[in-house]
Amino acid sequence: MKAAGNEVTAIIGARSKDYVIMEDRMGKASDRLIICTDDGSYGIPGFVTTALQQLLNDGERFDEIVAIGPAIMMRAVANMTREYKIPTIVSLNSIMVDGTGMCGACRVTVGDETKFVCVDGPEFDGHKVDFDELMQRLGTYKDEEELAQNKE
Ligand code: FES
Repeated sequence: MKAAGNEVTAIIGARSKDYVIMEDRMGKASDRLIICTDDGSYGIPGFVTTALQQLLNDGERFDEIVAIGPAIMMRAVANMTREYKIPTIVSLNSIMVDGTGMCGACRVTVGDETKFVCVDGPEFDGHKVDFDELMQRLGTYKDEEELAQNKE
């Protein structure tokens, strides 16, 4: 986006400083890089939405927002930008399993349509994604996943 002549602000969020990734690359790919950590060990204390809200409160204007990461973060970003009517793209690749269109794990409702992230996406209009349904589906096998993890 920067190479195409856009002014790019990037916000990276992580649990703590040790989990911040791609800082150099994102710094080079953007005009301004803001880092947030949940525990405040690096950058702005809080989530990416904390930094985004500050920018919006300061009157910054954005033509488009792109959110990539955990579903809970993308939902929070989409909910925030909906109020400001900022077009928001979310990348749902994190919910894919086989990536071939066969397992059905990446089924998602976008607007009134059922989509498969690996076939129809992975980018979608964040304001149309049914994140509540998505989050519910992501938790379907939570108990089994915990059991399997504790077995190892
Ligand atoms: Fe399996 Fe899309 S990831 S169908």
